[in-house]
Formats: sequence, C-alpha cells, structure tokens
Amino acid sequence: MKFKGILDINKDSKEFYKKEKNNESFRNNYHFQPPFGLINDPNGLSFFNGEYNIFFQWNPFTCEHKFKHWGLIKTKDFINYTIPKVVLAPVDYYDKNGCYSGSAIERNGVLELLYTGNVKDENGNRLSYQCAAIMNKDGDVKKLGAVLDSVPKGYTSHFRDPKVYFKNGKYYFIIGAQTDKLKGRVLLYSSLDMRKWSLEGEVKTRLENFGYMWECPNIVTLKDKDVLIFSPQGLEKEEFKYQNIYQSGYIIGKLNYDTLKFNHDEFCELDMGFDFYAPQIFEDDKNRILMIGWMGVPEQDEDKHISLKENWIHCLTIPRELTLKNNKIYQHPIDEIKQLREKMFFCRDNFIEESLEFSDINKNSYEFILDLKDSRNLNFKIEMFKGEGEHFDLYFNDGICVISRENILQGPHGIRKFILNKSNNLKLHGFIDKSAVEIYINDGEYVLSSRVFVKMNSTGLKLNGLGEKLNINKLEIWTLKGVNYNE
Ligand code: FRU
Repeated sequence: MKFKGILDINKDSKEFYKKEKNNESFRNNYHFQPPFGLINDPNGLSFFNGEYNIFFQWNPFTCEHKFKHWGLIKTKDFINYTIPKVVLAPVDYYDKNGCYSGSAIERNGVLELLYTGNVKDENGNRLSYQCAAIMNKDGDVKKLGAVLDSVPKGYTSHFRDPKVYFKNGKYYFIIGAQTDKLKGRVLLYSSLDMRKWSLEGEVKTRLENFGYMWECPNIVTLKDKDVLIFSPQGLEKEEFKYQNIYQSGYIIGKLNYDTLKFNHDEFCELDMGFDFYAPQIFEDDKNRILMIGWMGVPEQDEDKHISLKENWIHCLTIPRELTLKNNKIYQHPIDEIKQLREKMFFCRDNFIEESLEFSDINKNSYEFILDLKDSRNLNFKIEMFKGEGEHFDLYFNDGICVISRENILQGPHGIRKFILNKSNNLKLHGFIDKSAVEIYINDGEYVLSSRVFVKMNSTGLKLNGLGEKLNINKLEIWTLKGVNYNE
C-alpha cells in the first residue's frame, strides 16, 4: 500500500466537503466524525489565537486502529468549523508507528504540542517517545522531535498520552503508564522550558489494583479540589458499573506536589452510555473547563458499526462544560450548542399524561428537555429513534436506569445499567443526531453517550409512563441544524 502524504490527504478532505451530502448516510449533523477513516481520542484541546483547536487521532487511510495521524479542526463558535486536515503524520523514526495521543499548551506565542511517538522496533517491541511540535499563529505545524526517549525503570513501554499543564511557575505533564507488574498508573514530569523534562515520580493513589493500564490522564483543579481523570483498562465488569470493555472516570481530592500523594474519594465513571472513552479537558478564555470525549471504545463492537460501509468510523461528543457540585463532576452541554436550535417543535408546561408519542418530528437531529415531577419512585420509559420495528430505550425502574439497544434492528446491541441517586424531579436533556445520542440526566449528574444505527426515518420519540401518570413540569423539543465545515 502506498500511503498518501499530508498534502494529498488534506486535498481529499476538502474535496469531500465540497460534495453534496447523502441524506441516507449515517453521518451526524453536529457530532464530529472524519470525512474518511477512523477517528479516536480528542488531542491537544486548546483555545489559542482566538480559536478553539480540536486535534484528534485520525487514521485517514482505513477504518482500523493503525496509521495514527493528528488531525485538526478549528472553530470560534462551535458551529462553524474548518475542514479537517492532518497536521502530524507518523513518518519519523520517533513516531513511525503512530503519532499517538497528547495535548497542547500556549507558550511564547505559539501552541506547543506534546504527543507520544509509538514505535515498533525490528523485533516487534514497543518503544515510546514523547515528542514535541509547535503550531504558530498562521497554523503551520513543525515537529521538534523527541523530548523524552525512555521509559523509567519499573514501567513497561505502555507509556503514553502526556497531558501538559502549567502550575506554580512550572510545566508539568501527567502520563499514562503500566508497572512491570502490569498495574495501571500515572506518572508526573516537570520542566521549566518544555524541552528538558524530569521525572517527579508516580502519583500515589489508593487505586493500587485498578486495571493493567491507565490511558489518557488529565489533571485539573475545580473549586480547590484536584481532579484526576483517566481511562483505566482491565476493570472487572459489575452489575451496575464498568459495563463497557474499558472505562473513563475520575477521582477527586488533593494532590500533594511534594510527596505526590493523592488523597481522594472513590473512582467515579464519567459516562454510563455505550460509547465514551479517552476524554480530554482544557480551560478556555472564559475560564470554563471544557471536555470532549471520543464517542467510541477501543475493541468494543467496532466491527458492527455500519458506517464502515461508508468508509468512516466513530465520532466525538459535543463539548461539555464541567463543574463540581457535592464532590461530583457535573457535565453540561456548552451554551453555544443552543445556536443550533432551528425550530421549537413542541413546548408545554405543567401537564399530566400517561404517555405521549411524537411520530412526526421527521428530523434526525433534535434536542429534548423533559422535567418530571414526583419522579422518586416512577417507572418510566422513553423510546428514542422510534420507527418501524425499532427504538432505542431508556428506562427508569426503582432507582435503576437502563439503556438498551436491544430493540434496534442493526448495528451493535446490548444494555447498560446503573443506579441513579434518587431525586424528586427527574430531568433529562437529550441530543439526538443521525447515529449518536447524548442524554444528560439531572443537570449533568450523569451522562449517557451512545452510537445508534437506525433506519433514516426512525425519528420518533415516545414517553411512556408504563401505566402510571407522568407529572410533567416541562417538555420542550427543538429541531437542530448541523454544524458547518468550511475552509
Ligand atoms: C486511547 C489510546 C491512547 C493512544 C491512542 C492511540 O484510545 O489507546 O492510549 O495514545 O489511543 O490511537
């Protein structure tokens, strides 16, 4: 196979967006997916030079986890985006088997990128280099090569995904690692100039036996608390927890930068849907902490994604703002998303109904806000993507929340369930796209992100009180426009 270079890939990408859209496609309207190939982790999320930069893992050649490049889209408003282009290709000795995940930070007027160069030597052994690159204000990206070319003693070469941040006059990066005994860990490095990095050590948490690898760590301070977000691999599935093959979640507490001891609470999952992994966070110019996740999970049902027939796979979540409340992360769809609202399809306050069906939304891109009163012991079901012979279900039964893809005709199936903190009101905020759905529960206390492959006219929505009356405080449904990609 002769691989295309950056210029040719970027030409193909431009051509792709010039073409007329195919309405029968699974391509989403406002969730970002690649024009072709495979997308996974968001990388280098940053606000730089008046724009948001969303870099991402991209295999522009095939729909497999190979040939990882860094792609980039930019936006000022999360509605108008630039056409995706490749900015880093795996062509150098230090990244030849993949420009793996990493992050970005502004320094001296340029955006510094730090990523893992994944390398297989002639015997097939993995090597890991941490590599630097810079992007100037004109958008030119230049690789600077490896700034760290070894893995510390006691750890395997599963060592990747540096997330850089600035604190108390120093640069730090936190990186995913695996001990020689095959335990997942994160390590901390520091630097004054982003070129010479020194190992501070291993972050000491209580999670000594918590999977065999921790990928994509992030660290952030929210209201004086330190939050460590990471994606552990190797947790055992439980009845109401860890239901995907790999997880993403966080611990909250205080990290002592002298001893590296992290005093923290329980690990908490960030998303209870079928498709969420490797999220990255960043702070913008409005001091918002924003997060985007990959709406996919490695090695989980990937062969069943029927977008493969269209030569692309996976997408990213909509950007979410994070806040801390009662020692828990709450996630909110960013305000900018409201600009996608096209038409108010339905709006009613204060009414009682046993069931309510909308079969005429006729649009595979909409938002709903449902606020239910007296929902503490309610059994209730909501059917989304409802069409002939299929629907995607979310039900609440005695404090347990279940989502099910069992009743859709094609694509990956299965159920996921978790225990919900009971509250007097139940609030749901759903974002339905062509082949993706995100549901925010109780103002972002829980989020469910899932891919759903249904027939194009399966656009109905049904609320079902299952024989009981639903006391509805508010129900709104808005049809949504798509985002734009232009040069
Ligand atoms: C997470 C991950 C990262 C790695 C990247 C490679 O999905 O496995 O650990 O850097 O994907 O694409």
